[in-house]
Amino acid sequence: MEENIICNCMNVSEHEIVHAIKHQGAVMLQDIEDITGAMSGCGSCTEEVEKILQRER
Ligand code: FES
Repeated sequence: MEENIICNCMNVSEHEIVHAIKHQGAVMLQDIEDITGAMSGCGSCTEEVEKILQRER
């Protein structure tokens, strides 16, 4: 499967973010950061992660 990297700093893929929402109980951006590490670098991926969260929850 092709990996769509959302967070370049932490190398976190869209798949990992969706998995955190669907299977690891992430309901807020902070949860996704805690679980995947996404957004804990430069923060520029936050908007993209937020979109995935809105779409998947
Ligand atoms: S791209 Fe996600 S923290 Fe920099």
